[in-house]
Amino acid sequence: MIEQPKMVKICDVIEESAGVKTFFFKANLDFVPGQFIMVWIPLIDEKPFTISYIQQDIMGISVLRCGAFTTALHKKKVGDLIGIRGPYGEGFDLQTGSNVCVAGGGIGMASLATLVDRLSAATVLHGARTASEIIYQKRFQGMKLCTDDGSVGFRGTTVDLLRELLKTQTFERVYTCGPEKMMYKVVELCKNHGIDCEVSLDRYMKCGFGICGQCDCSGQRVCIEGPVFNTAELNTMNDFGKITILKTGERVNIHSTASRNEVLLY
Ligand SMILES: Cc1cc2nc3c(=O)[nH]c(=O)nc-3n(C[C@H](O)[C@H](O)[C@H](O)COP(=O)(O)OP(=O)(O)OC[C@H]3O[C@@H](n4cnc5c(N)ncnc54)[C@H](O)[C@@H]3O)c2cc1C
Ligand code: FES
Repeated sequence: MIEQPKMVKICDVIEESAGVKTFFFKANLDFVPGQFIMVWIPLIDEKPFTISYIQQDIMGISVLRCGAFTTALHKKKVGDLIGIRGPYGEGFDLQTGSNVCVAGGGIGMASLATLVDRLSAATVLHGARTASEIIYQKRFQGMKLCTDDGSVGFRGTTVDLLRELLKTQTFERVYTCGPEKMMYKVVELCKNHGIDCEVSLDRYMKCGFGICGQCDCSGQRVCIEGPVFNTAELNTMNDFGKITILKTGERVNIHSTASRNEVLLY
């Protein structure tokens, strides 16, 4: 049976950075970090977002404004209603030791935020193009930052910063979310160091529960088998880092598309 969206009232809105707002609402979902919910704005559309905050019975989604849907969401105020259904998908594997790294690029940090809450001893890296695009700086005080322009933290990308760290230390596992080209490089770097990764993939989604095929990545439905995949699974997925599927269904080379992350964040 298709789950109907449940309408929830926005109870708080905070600005995380120049282009990112977090919307809080009352909900008590059984959510595993890495899963996602479908958010519905009546008469506009429905899109996947991860839960980025869990505070007892209040949950939050952090949204980068980059297109029609997210612009409409950014106009929402306290008291407005949005529809939610889910959570869906497979989240991160939390059965791990404490020596792990969480590496987020741009808005990808939202998908990792509740994971960081759970893995309190993790080394956390967050990269953006410039200081004003960094999110959660106060929330995760020990977070190591990097920016392309060097305006805060290490000058370089998240991959560059991880490469630097791996010169002197290692990790049991690296969790990552961000632009797919970045995640591909993180996985390749970690393979060279014998470190397993867990990656949260972003594919255009329509149904969110496995029937439309829109979110296919080499035969895996990102909304059901993913969005989190590990290195062994990614090794069998030739589309990872190479091919994505547009809203029209057209398969395109990831390197030839201007993804939302690159438009604003990388
Ligand atoms: C599992 C999952 C979790 C997500 N969690 C979050 C989250 O926590 N916060 C958040 O801000 N966003 C998240 N997203 C992305 C979100 O669902 C929207 O797709 C995105 O914000 C674009 O919204 P839009 O309709 O406003 O922009 P659109 O008009 O759809 O797109 C704006 C621009 O981005 C490009 N674009 C859109 N989608 C993709 C894509 N999948 N790959 C490459 N380029 C694309 C478009 O071509 C266009 O250039 C998540 C996506 C997935 C699959
Ligand atoms: S979004 Fe429809 S199958 Fe995944």
